[in-house]
Amino acid sequence: MIRIVEVGPRDGLQNEKVTIPTDIKVAFVDALSEAGLDEIEVSSFVSPRWIPQLADADQVFARIVRKPGVRYLALVPNEAGLDRAVAARVDKVAVFTAASESFVRKNINATIQESIERFRPVVARSPVPVRGYVSTAFHCPYEGPVSPERVVPVCQALLDLGCTELSIGDTIGKATPEEVEALLNLLLPRFGPANLAMHFHDTYGRAVANARRSRELGITVFDASAGGIGGCPYAPGATGNVASQALVDLFGAETRVDRARLDAAAAIVRPYLGG
Ligand code: HMG
Ligand code: MG
Repeated sequence: MIRIVEVGPRDGLQNEKVTIPTDIKVAFVDALSEAGLDEIEVSSFVSPRWIPQLADADQVFARIVRKPGVRYLALVPNEAGLDRAVAARVDKVAVFTAASESFVRKNINATIQESIERFRPVVARSPVPVRGYVSTAFHCPYEGPVSPERVVPVCQALLDLGCTELSIGDTIGKATPEEVEALLNLLLPRFGPANLAMHFHDTYGRAVANARRSRELGITVFDASAGGIGGCPYAPGATGNVASQALVDLFGAETRVDRARLDAAAAIVRPYLGG
């Protein structure tokens, strides 16, 4: 089976220039759970100065209707974020760093090593499983191509902390299937498919081909966003995530997602997106 981690409410909405009403975000998350998505990244407990679009994370979590069997996730960058996430009763938190120093500096104002040290107490104290994002695993918006060898130690450090799953990010959507294969040929023998998810953005229209190649190599967990919304304000050139619909079309019944209900969920936020 394929597991889609729906990141639309977080990755999709963090990049919007307009403010989306909290009620709309809540309706979006609830519609996604009704569509059969059982892992939904709802928001981020980050600094509201850095990501004002998600400053209402606490309210969104308070208002969603929790469907049994669905895990509701949130990003946390530090212990303050963990405390907010625990108070909001999240089911899983995600820490996030990258394979390139410049991106980590721009995104969370730290070096890679500092980010790992910052996450140490987060993972140690977290009462729920922790996912670890490794951004710029193929290309960095500031440094250009990132060699696969630079990704391995970051993955290892996150697993050593106690992360139970890694999400490998093509942050600006520049990866090719060949690059995906080269990286997975390094990561899979070391870490195994059970620990790895792929997070593709679709800037150059290659996300589906990249997901297909990943699946052929053994990956079964993919991040995606309803309607293909998404991007990172600290990664110039990053556009939407691969659309959840595209993965449902690609993998079919293996995803257990209702395509029509997924379209209906995406339609809830579409009128509010500023582009
Ligand atoms: P900083 O400015 O270095 O640290 O930011 P700070 O400790 O001085 O905090 C600044 C202010 O934020 C302070 O408030 C803190 O109290 C507050 P002030 O005193 O100025 O009023 N603060 C917080 N408030 C609420 N919740 C918190 C929190 N932490 C601090 N948790 C920091 C460092 C890490 C906080 C900041 O850089 C940050 O929040 N960055 C988040 C950036 C982000 O969310 N980026 C997008 C997600 S990553 C992504 O999209 C990639 C991904 O999709 C994968 C891929 O595509 O590759 C995951
Ligand atoms: Mg992303």
